[in-house]
Amino acid sequence: MTVRRVNVVILVLLVIAFLIILHRNLLNLNDFLKQENPDTASGMVLPFETDFLSDHKVIRTGDEIPVVITAPEERLGATVTAMNSIYRNSKANVVFSIVTLNESVVHLRTWLSKTDLKHKIIVFDLKILTGKIPTDPQKVEAVKPLTFARFFLPVFLPEAEKVIYLDDDVIVQGDIQELFDSSIKLGHAAAFSEDCDSASSKGIVRGAGNQNSYIAFLDFKKEAIKKLGMRANTCSFNPGVFVANLTEWKQQNITSQLEFWMERSAKLVCVLLFYKSRTLSFKIPEPFLYVIFRNKIYKVKTDFNNQFPS
Ligand SMILES: *[C@@H]1O[C@H](CO)[C@@H](O)[C@H](O)[C@H]1NC(C)=O
Ligand SMILES: *[C@@H]1O[C@H](CO)[C@@H](O)[C@H](O)[C@H]1NC(C)=O
Ligand SMILES: *[C@@H]1O[C@H](CO)[C@@H](O)[C@H](O)[C@H]1NC(C)=O
Repeated sequence: MTVRRVNVVILVLLVIAFLIILHRNLLNLNDFLKQENPDTASGMVLPFETDFLSDHKVIRTGDEIPVVITAPEERLGATVTAMNSIYRNSKANVVFSIVTLNESVVHLRTWLSKTDLKHKIIVFDLKILTGKIPTDPQKVEAVKPLTFARFFLPVFLPEAEKVIYLDDDVIVQGDIQELFDSSIKLGHAAAFSEDCDSASSKGIVRGAGNQNSYIAFLDFKKEAIKKLGMRANTCSFNPGVFVANLTEWKQQNITSQLEFWMERSAKLVCVLLFYKSRTLSFKIPEPFLYVIFRNKIYKVKTDFNNQFPS
């Protein structure tokens, strides 16, 4: 009898413990889902934001850190979440240049009104892509113009020397100041982190679909690629997070070089110039960046990635 009673007590305790754990996990999962797909929570204030507004009010002074980020219509919430993650972990005077399409400006302003993110909104003029994306209407639909915004950094920030570019699908867990302070090798237009470097994936949580080497994107059987002398199995770099020296970028005409490859590629849509896969074509900027920066991968300071919120 007593043994049975003890068993029952233990059982009840176990059930309670289980329920507590389950509850906590569900809460976490909930937060996670909201952050993963904030658009589903459109109109609601994310836990992220309330937290940020009440506890983390920081007076941001000192040298400006320009951060360029894109805001596609269907991912406005994600962009705001990415920006909040930066503010949350840094006291630096971060000023965002948010590149978006004209049609999204009003909606974006609404999102931003709930935050105190320092920002300017830059309207991405689609004319800039004329002749650089295929004219075939079926293909045009697949084009996500803002993914190419990073090619035009000096157009958005003509005065800046050093800027950070971030994809809208990242969550930054370290202090962005450290990323900004990382040096860019003299003569290089940008510092990237290698995808294969496990440390580089720690501080920044990237979106899915991330692949690790050139061969995942480029077709090494194509003549145009062979000529470049790239090695197929070299680790690619993460083009979603980088620090750029725009002085050097302009001197090396990086934008024109990228445009040159885009134009060639657009004209040869049928005979894909260097894409590994037809379905990748014009959806992603990686191949162009890999070609231009192939010999110039210089890692961002990895310390940036070693800070975890516990
Ligand atoms: C941008 O949108 C506004 C209204 O939403 C419109 O009046 C304006 O003509 C648009 N500009 C361009 C360049 O499309
Ligand atoms: C950027 O590049 C220019 C030209 O090479 C160089 O003079 C300058 O020091 C660089 N700036 C940074 C912040 O690396
Ligand atoms: C960049 O473009 C300018 C003018 O278009 C040209 O004079 C210069 O030689 C180019 N520089 C490089 C490195 O291609």
